[in-house]
Amino acid sequence: MAIFEWKSEYDTGIAEIDNQHMVLVSLINELHILVNEKFDRALAEEIFEKLKKYAFFHFATEENLMAQYHYDAHDNEAHLAQHRQFESEFKSVQADFENITLEECNVVLSYLTNWLTNHICKVDKRLADHIHQQRQAESEGSTHYSSAELVAQSVTEEEAISVIGSLHITQKHIGNTGEMLEQLEACIDELQYHCDVMVQSASDSVFSNMSATAHYKCTHGLKLVKLIRSNHEYLKDALNKLE
Ligand SMILES: [Fe+2]
Repeated sequence: MAIFEWKSEYDTGIAEIDNQHMVLVSLINELHILVNEKFDRALAEEIFEKLKKYAFFHFATEENLMAQYHYDAHDNEAHLAQHRQFESEFKSVQADFENITLEECNVVLSYLTNWLTNHICKVDKRLADHIHQQRQAESEGSTHYSSAELVAQSVTEEEAISVIGSLHITQKHIGNTGEMLEQLEACIDELQYHCDVMVQSASDSVFSNMSATAHYKCTHGLKLVKLIRSNHEYLKDALNKLE
């Protein structure tokens, strides 16, 4: 029997979240079967690494959705805190992996199963409710006015002209920011590649650790740029609707 049985009550109704949760569950099950059939530490470590990368990618997906759907600041903070706690616990397990026993591996897998079940049922479902509400509101259609309508509805024509002028200036700046973000993302991406090469070719451990830290910072930087770009796209769309 699989350690993590998927149940319909874990569905959030948000396809990108549910599909990724199911991949995480199957990775945990794969790892559980592997270690209990024949304990192979090296292979277990490999799948553990795969699980970590996928979990981090999944967290980034959820965090992008939080930014895209303007999640409440308090809920956002609480959700991010859980993701960061999981990441740090996962890394500390990996740091001691050399000496891990089969029993300890099973304890870690039970912990991951409980953590994910609890996380999905509480914080992920809360986020999903918010996204459902936002999507519902969007599908009901927002009212937006053309420039001419703005002029017609404004208290004075002078005020409307001033609003439209500001709108055009903002659109111009937001266009420039979009190009800069694209260039920044390409720079960090290239930096990350160089860090990767340095980690692999480093001969002393101090340099190797420094390169690995730089690589991790690049990953974090890329995540931030993606979040900013997602906010930026949202702003650009909102401005275009106003025109
Ligand atoms: Fe989450």
